[in-house]
Amino acid sequence: MEQLFGYTLGEMTNRNAGTCLWCFGTKNGKEYFIKQFLNPKYPYQDKVLSPERIEKKKKQCRDNVARKIRVYDAVNRFSDGNDVRIYEFFRYEQKYYLSMEKIEELPWSIQDVYDLPEKERRRLCALIAHAVAGLHQGGLAHSDLKHENILFTKSSNGTLTVKVIDFDSAFFEADEIKSEDISGDWVYFSPEVWGRFDDIDCHLTCKIDIFALGVLFHQYFSGDVPGFDHETGCTAAGQAVLAGLPLTVSDKIPSDIRELLIRMLDADPEKRPTAMEVFTAFQPEELRTLAEKKPDTVAVEDDRPPRYCTNCGRQYRGEGFLCAECAEKEAKGPKPVNDPKKYFTKGGDFFSTPSGF
Ligand SMILES: Nc1ncnc2c1ncn2[C@@H]1O[C@H](COP(=O)(O)OP(=O)(O)OP(=O)(O)O)[C@@H](O)[C@H]1O
Ligand SMILES: [Mg+2]
Repeated sequence: MEQLFGYTLGEMTNRNAGTCLWCFGTKNGKEYFIKQFLNPKYPYQDKVLSPERIEKKKKQCRDNVARKIRVYDAVNRFSDGNDVRIYEFFRYEQKYYLSMEKIEELPWSIQDVYDLPEKERRRLCALIAHAVAGLHQGGLAHSDLKHENILFTKSSNGTLTVKVIDFDSAFFEADEIKSEDISGDWVYFSPEVWGRFDDIDCHLTCKIDIFALGVLFHQYFSGDVPGFDHETGCTAAGQAVLAGLPLTVSDKIPSDIRELLIRMLDADPEKRPTAMEVFTAFQPEELRTLAEKKPDTVAVEDDRPPRYCTNCGRQYRGEGFLCAECAEKEAKGPKPVNDPKKYFTKGGDFFSTPSGF
């Protein structure tokens, strides 16, 4: 089996992947998800290209590394625990790789999520919105939110939870993203993203993620994307909204969620709620009632409304996003080896983020 920077790699696959190959690997006895990027490729020991071309390619690679390091650093710092953190990022010969914690993914389709009890779906949507709110707090738009990039998994106590992955289309809303750098899935593209493809000049913000979540949550609560007139030639909700067509939000969906989805799918990004507002709207009813009316009836001294741990799903009281037990585990958790020299592979390059991997 191949050895790379201390990882023993399994077999690479492109299952569920767009522009990468991936595998699971082990390092220091722990399993990791490892992603191999197909582009850009470093001109390693290249004997064909001219020196100018090699320098140009090296610059492209340097720019790409600088961009990824900023993004991964923000993900690692702003993750609420459900945005899967990036563990290491390196190049070996021509190719770039990242490693992340391996998530034991349940092979769930949209239909499987739709078949869950409504209460459970509300809790899971709250968790997704909360994870996205963390990224937005760091100024980062995920930009490729879709069912395939949400992993459903069981936490250590058996509770169902969700993990947001795939930050390789992400961009900072403070930056001006070039149209050719926009990537993602057209089913979830917001009208302003479609507009950019039509050369309509507009600044893209984190609100593109809210539109994508509007489409995704519509799927989770009705089994399908929002309705629009397909006779017009439009192929996606965002494209229809850009063309001024109305979207039909399914009447199978409970009325409070329908109202929320209508706002999330608004043509005007500014009128869409923030991810934190979406999280609050999805918080389970009994929690809101407790928070609003009767904290004094709860038999604990701490009268703050209870929260759900974003890792194990248990209710707890206190600050942050993790219950005391998960917070302690996370603090003690395996720290990155961060000793690239120990694992240095000839022909490779190991990168670090400002906060360190
Ligand atoms: N941390 C992880 N643990 C387990 N499986 C993962 C993890 N991250 C990704 N996967 C699996 O690998 C697949 C591909 O990963 P990812 O979404 O990051 O790549 P991609 O879609 O090709 O990325 P890109 O959008 O950059 O082309 C996922 O859909 C998922 O099935
Ligand atoms: Mg993906």
